[in-house]
Amino acid sequence: MNDQQMPQFPEPFWRESVQLPEYPKLEETIQTDVGIVGGGITGITAAYLLAKENIKVTLLDAGVLLNGTTGHTTAKITAQHGLIYDEFIQHFGLEKASQYYKATTEAKEFIESTINNYKIDCDYSKEDAYVFTNSDQYLSQLETESKAYDQLEIDGEIRDDIPLDLKVKSALVMKNQAQFHPLKYLKTLVKEAEKNGVQIFENTTAVDVEYYKHPAIITRDGHRVKCKYVIAASHFPFYDRQSFYFARMYQDRSYVLGIKTKQTFPGGMYINAEDPTRSIRATKMNGEDLWLIGGEHHKTGQGKTTIEHYNALKDFAEAKFDVTEIPFRWSAQDLTTLDKLPYIGPATEHEESVFVATGFRKWGMTNGTIAAKIISDKIVKGENEYEELYSPQRFQADPALRKFTSINADVAKHMVKGKLEFTHNSIKGLSPDDATVTRINGKRTGVYKDKEEKLYALDTTCTHMGCEVEWNSGDRTWDCPCHGSRFSYTGEVVEGPAKRPLPKIVLKETK
Ligand code: FES
Repeated sequence: MNDQQMPQFPEPFWRESVQLPEYPKLEETIQTDVGIVGGGITGITAAYLLAKENIKVTLLDAGVLLNGTTGHTTAKITAQHGLIYDEFIQHFGLEKASQYYKATTEAKEFIESTINNYKIDCDYSKEDAYVFTNSDQYLSQLETESKAYDQLEIDGEIRDDIPLDLKVKSALVMKNQAQFHPLKYLKTLVKEAEKNGVQIFENTTAVDVEYYKHPAIITRDGHRVKCKYVIAASHFPFYDRQSFYFARMYQDRSYVLGIKTKQTFPGGMYINAEDPTRSIRATKMNGEDLWLIGGEHHKTGQGKTTIEHYNALKDFAEAKFDVTEIPFRWSAQDLTTLDKLPYIGPATEHEESVFVATGFRKWGMTNGTIAAKIISDKIVKGENEYEELYSPQRFQADPALRKFTSINADVAKHMVKGKLEFTHNSIKGLSPDDATVTRINGKRTGVYKDKEEKLYALDTTCTHMGCEVEWNSGDRTWDCPCHGSRFSYTGEVVEGPAKRPLPKIVLKETK
């Protein structure tokens, strides 16, 4: 029967279904060869690859391993990154578009061969990937993308229908792609990396890099990881020395429901071309199909209340399928660069020993894997064939310049809007598990009331560059509309570029 209840709290299926080991916090200054910041697919794969080459690696995570974007993905292993190949051919030329396809396909093959080597039981299956549309506007775009497939010799074609019982006007299939359970896969890579000597520390926040002869990662507690190389695999780079990554990317949030239905899933991975996005695949939960319905992306901290996005996915799922249960809901944050190609390589022009990997545009399984390969090759061999393609220092005037202008105009608009907002909401009328923005002593203040009616008041001025954060009711966080920083209701940084927590405000009395 439709109209099922959604879970009260977001929790990704991936994390719920795998027990991961725990690691200590870094409590001293240490020495290593490569310091990696960020325990997602990029950091863990890089640690695994480097340790196999007898390189001493230390991996730090600000929280716990695999609880960032990797833990919240839909885990499609595909080179079909939406409709991208015609755009890449137009902007970068055939050769670079071809390199992107080749790099992404190599990442897919690396994952497959690693699964085979270690016989990893991670629900891996080969699937065809489909971009479908129900909009006349996108019919010609699918055709154009199909021509790009032909130019790039990608195995795919236009179809009138899809295996899933969903009416479509047209679909473009890319054959022989794949999907898996990302945490089951990465848990094995962590184990293998540890066997080869990788040291792992959790709850250890990296805040900066300092240089003497070599770089050293500085942690919030003032400890140092002295090393020869640093890899910032922390989603948003924790290190941004005048590289302005915050102005060269924008952050998006999107949502996933894990549902059970009366139908049997026919196989395949699906995403539509138009907005609002609808992404569909299935995985196995206790031997039964768990359908993952994703989409509803929007700029972080902007737009309608986040719970409405979950409701929109629920309405879609219930309108199209016989939903019997909604055991999971979760959301993810993704970064997109100005020209849609990830930034992978030296963080700045003059710092060959600090690498970044970011801007995966929702396709982190393949882009994170290729990032780990490029950076580990740079460290071990001094080169990788794709380094130029992904270089963070590349300059492509078109479309990057226009996008740069529009991203930063949007930031300016939100910066001003937040400051002018006139809010004097009452805290007294606040329901449990809800938040409001009010003014206390003239200061814009965010107040969350938890289920036990305890109040948490914070200065809502983002510690990155001073925009005003907004309440995210779906995830119970304060999100910044400017560059996508996110803070817990206690003020801790959940997502950068901000590095410092939101200051707490002491409430004398409620009004
Ligand atoms: Fe830049 Fe908030 S993230 S001002």
